[in-house]
Amino acid sequence: MEKRFYVTTPIYYVNAEPHIGHAYTTIVADFLKRFYTMLGYETFFLTGTDEHGDKIVKAALHNNTQPQEYTDKISAIFKEQWKSMGIEFNDFIRTTEERHKKVVQHVLQKVYDNGDIYFGSYGGYYCFGCERYFTDKEMVDGKCPDHQKKLDYIQEENYFFKMSKYQQWLIDYIHEHHDFIRPERYKNEVLAMLEGEALEDLCISRPKARLSWGIPLPFDTNFVTYVWFDALINYISAIGYPDSDLFKKFWPVSNHLIAKDIVKPHGIFWPTMLKAAGIEPYQHLNVHGYWNMESAKMSKSLGNVVTPSQLLEKYGNDQIRYFFLREMTFGLDAKFSEEAIANRINYDLANDLGNLINRTFNMVQKYCDAKVPPFHSDEPANREDMQQALQASIQQYIDYVHQFQFNIALERLWDFVRYCNKYIDESKPWQVAKENNIKKLQSLLRNLLEGIHAVAILLSPVCITKSPLVIKALKASAQCTIDTLPAMSSLSDGTTLDSPGILFPRLEKETETVNSAHSTKKEAFMETTPEGLIDIKDFLKVELRIAKVLQAKAVEGSSKLIELSIDTGKDIRTIIAGLAPHYTPDYLTGKKIIVVANLKPATLFKKTSNGMLLAAKLSKDDAPILIEVNDKVPVGAVLS
Ligand code: ME8
Ligand code: MG
Repeated sequence: MEKRFYVTTPIYYVNAEPHIGHAYTTIVADFLKRFYTMLGYETFFLTGTDEHGDKIVKAALHNNTQPQEYTDKISAIFKEQWKSMGIEFNDFIRTTEERHKKVVQHVLQKVYDNGDIYFGSYGGYYCFGCERYFTDKEMVDGKCPDHQKKLDYIQEENYFFKMSKYQQWLIDYIHEHHDFIRPERYKNEVLAMLEGEALEDLCISRPKARLSWGIPLPFDTNFVTYVWFDALINYISAIGYPDSDLFKKFWPVSNHLIAKDIVKPHGIFWPTMLKAAGIEPYQHLNVHGYWNMESAKMSKSLGNVVTPSQLLEKYGNDQIRYFFLREMTFGLDAKFSEEAIANRINYDLANDLGNLINRTFNMVQKYCDAKVPPFHSDEPANREDMQQALQASIQQYIDYVHQFQFNIALERLWDFVRYCNKYIDESKPWQVAKENNIKKLQSLLRNLLEGIHAVAILLSPVCITKSPLVIKALKASAQCTIDTLPAMSSLSDGTTLDSPGILFPRLEKETETVNSAHSTKKEAFMETTPEGLIDIKDFLKVELRIAKVLQAKAVEGSSKLIELSIDTGKDIRTIIAGLAPHYTPDYLTGKKIIVVANLKPATLFKKTSNGMLLAAKLSKDDAPILIEVNDKVPVGAVLS
């Protein structure tokens, strides 16, 4: 089969401006478009705005303006928002466009001619937020569970679509196509709706007398089209249904992205509408959960909204994209917090990835005059091992994206990032330089540069600004594809590298660290002069000793603390240090360190710390760097 991929976002209501929930779905779509393009697929990415219906009219009235003027304004804001975020949609559809209206009327006429639309009367409970009727089963205390508002009872004469006729067909179709709706929980949700009770027919019109803001029914102009029947058709009107090449090319590979709020229209209305109109069903409906703030869904109607622009400005575009994709398990709800964003930026981007790139570029600068060193096959510096690690990461990254499990995909890519960091720690290029083993040093650094290049390419659908910077700094040829990466020979010998700069600056956090708790104690017994100078006697009060870490383990219940058993030369004692997650217990075991040995005990997480180790930070909020001591210095030695 030809490699093609069509991704859509919901078309967003223009009753308010874009918020983070909209940004999330749109970023996922943009990521997928770029990812599949990277894999050599022909891709199409559609987004847009949903502009008809009661609630748009209400919003326009509320803003003292006319619907057309109002929708023009808000739709433009959505479009601008996406452009400012570098979103590369292929088309942006508005349901008020002529090209869309034409297709909606065409589909309505077709379904009408097939005998699947009839005139009748109906009364039911309606949610204007969702723009749909709710069954007794779906209501919670007479309210819409999503918008938390009492539902209005509406009774009127309208046109109906014989949705019930296609109930059994849809049940069978879903059973036969196990990933038609995914993840599975939403397939089950739809099946529960379908198998639980008889499906009601869908009211697809509104009398013009009550609502004129809509697409007139082609067979009765006293009525306009119900907004969902109108809106869903955007997915085919934008690509030129029925005759265009785009439609023929991309409809068979259509992937809708939505959140769980609109599963029913997409999982039930839409496939039955398509069936009735004689159109093949979409390929996949992909449903994600909500971003929640303080346990409530973030939404316009609940008023707890953080704007995408605020986020971008504060944290950066790539950082937010990475956070969204890495933090949420697609299909489940996720908690939105700025602390979580800061952690992803500091640990994953600044520490793991940023450090790898900085360390490597610095070493190439220092040892190779900033030129790409050659690889020597007689001193391969474990290249094959790195190639295997890379190959494994790439394969899993791709597989998990295919399954829409973006968080795991990125985690597997980070396996390789961490592999490279460990490769530096273990191969110690600085030592190899000291030993003057030039060939090995060059191979080592070349392997690292190739590894970084591969990561930058793989990450380019996520980090749309920083990845190109890294690739540019490496002066890599633009010709490489994902298939050529594992060979690790994308760079050219002797090319002078540029500096990529600081890619992911660390964020300051206002958290109390273990070390700062100790330092207040230390200050308490020091007398200082007005100039801030201390007497030598004061310094000599502090007993600094060389100790060796015998054992290390994480402190239960704390994300920062590690419990160390250390040998100070005069005793074996326990100290608690705030080194996680920057250091692992494994790494620490066996290290020689400096401790303040005569500190009063302090209790942290029910553990007693008898002393404090020395670590360094450039600024208060940086990750601590352990002061490690040369192996020649004996345990128990006192610093003076
Ligand atoms: O429903 N978390 O438009 P809408 C995650 N016009 N995603 C969220 C979210 C949150 N808290 N809030 C919103 C409509 N979204 C219709 C769609 S399609 C033919 C018509 C995202 O403006 C998510 O994609 O209410 C959700 O499905 C969509 O915005 C709803 O946008
Ligand atoms: Mg909504």
